[in-house]
Amino acid sequence: MKRSNKLWGGRFRSDPATKTEDFTQSIEVDSRLVAHDIWGSQAHAIMLAYQGIISDVDLQHILTGLHKAEKNFRNGTFRLERDKEDVHLNVEAYLISQAGREFGGKLHTARSRNDQILADARLYIREQLLQCQGGLSRLCRRFLAIAKAHPETVMPGYTHTQHAQPISLGFWATAYVSMFLRDCKRLNAAYEIVNVNPLGACALAGTSFPIDRRLTAELLGFDSVQEHALDVISSRDFIAEPLCALAVLMANLSRFSEELVYWTSYEFGMAVIDDAYASGSSIMPQKKNPDLAELIRGRTGRIYGALVDHLTNLKALPMGYNRDLQEDKPPLWDSFDIIQSCLGILPDILETLNFQTDRMEALANANFATATELANYLVGECGIAFRECHEIVGGVVGDLVGMGKPFQDWEETQILLQQRGIKLSIPKLQAILDSKCALRNYQSLGSASPDEVKRMTEEFEERLDVIEAKIETRQAAIQAAHERTRQIVERVLAGKPIGEVLPE
Ligand code: ARG
Repeated sequence: MKRSNKLWGGRFRSDPATKTEDFTQSIEVDSRLVAHDIWGSQAHAIMLAYQGIISDVDLQHILTGLHKAEKNFRNGTFRLERDKEDVHLNVEAYLISQAGREFGGKLHTARSRNDQILADARLYIREQLLQCQGGLSRLCRRFLAIAKAHPETVMPGYTHTQHAQPISLGFWATAYVSMFLRDCKRLNAAYEIVNVNPLGACALAGTSFPIDRRLTAELLGFDSVQEHALDVISSRDFIAEPLCALAVLMANLSRFSEELVYWTSYEFGMAVIDDAYASGSSIMPQKKNPDLAELIRGRTGRIYGALVDHLTNLKALPMGYNRDLQEDKPPLWDSFDIIQSCLGILPDILETLNFQTDRMEALANANFATATELANYLVGECGIAFRECHEIVGGVVGDLVGMGKPFQDWEETQILLQQRGIKLSIPKLQAILDSKCALRNYQSLGSASPDEVKRMTEEFEERLDVIEAKIETRQAAIQAAHERTRQIVERVLAGKPIGEVLPE
């Protein structure tokens, strides 16, 4: 009788068509998960032996085979094959080729690819989340360096992309940090949801074997066990959470990129991108273009698309495992790649960005950007209601605009104010309408005042210290768990029974 060669082929009388294999396989996507799959398998095998479900001899053979798989994947002699469908069957088949079916065939006891893929994905995603947080933190440090250097460097603040009020370059830079710190929080929340153990949920119902899910959690460095087997297998909100966090983060990176694009335009002229991070034109010899910023802006849609792709996948899935769920990984992988590459280059662009502070100051003093300060002054000094002061200053601005003159045409400004019953000397006017004075006069909590910028910079630095310490602690915990598994493997391979390696 003709039989199928698949590990799941018992009930089949022939192999699937090549087209079926091509259609269902997930080798490329899974290729990132080989090390994680092997670690998960080691933990599972150790647990099976510890629980007496397989013997010490079985464990030795299995761990020897997995050890070879790990080594040979690294040196390229073990490669994932398309006709073996996915990472799990490839590793298992490789193990069986090394250890024989008699031993290797025992690894899949009390396990399903359904809980296996979840373990692999969670192990991979948590690493990626930590890397994103690290990259984001580095970017924030760059912004804070700018904040420290420029607490009093004035620039125009905008609303509606029109001159609004003067702010400082440092204030602008700390705004991004303030924003990105929330992205860090979202990534952190995603990490907490991701870092739990799905192993032992098996296909969907748990198992009749006396497994210890806490032990595999410990060996894999998961914070806890995700208990409810059907929920474990059916749910992919742990993929949706990172995608949401990445989509918001990408929106924020894109907004910064947008500012880079127009700040470096001739019209704005507020910054010059270093040659190392710009591109030229093949036809126009004079061109220097902010391509990197544009590409970041341009890749944003891919991450939004990834989120919508995933949510759409989830919306009509019944409980249990559905093969649709295999499609959860490509969008997330792509999103991680995009974010990591953006976070890899943005700190460099920022570090080498040449801010045109004279131009910023000129713009901050132009176009009546300090009009609000004049109105505020009149409220304080003349005891006039703000609405009245607004009207007076608005009238002066309107007249000056009509004459094509700026505030800095001091005599004219003085006369126009006088016509409205306000007497101010020219030196006084100059002081009120100077953007630097305006900056120093701000005093509210969180304002653009240099003191507030300094205070917030220090506070943000402390928060980044905490975030970085947490990233390190988590990375160390992951490494320690992996190291512990390796040591157990080593001792088992040296002939020690599991009861001795892992005493009660
Ligand atoms: N490649 C599959 C996925 O990503 C792995 C689990 C397959 N399970 C199954 N019953 N076919 O979801």
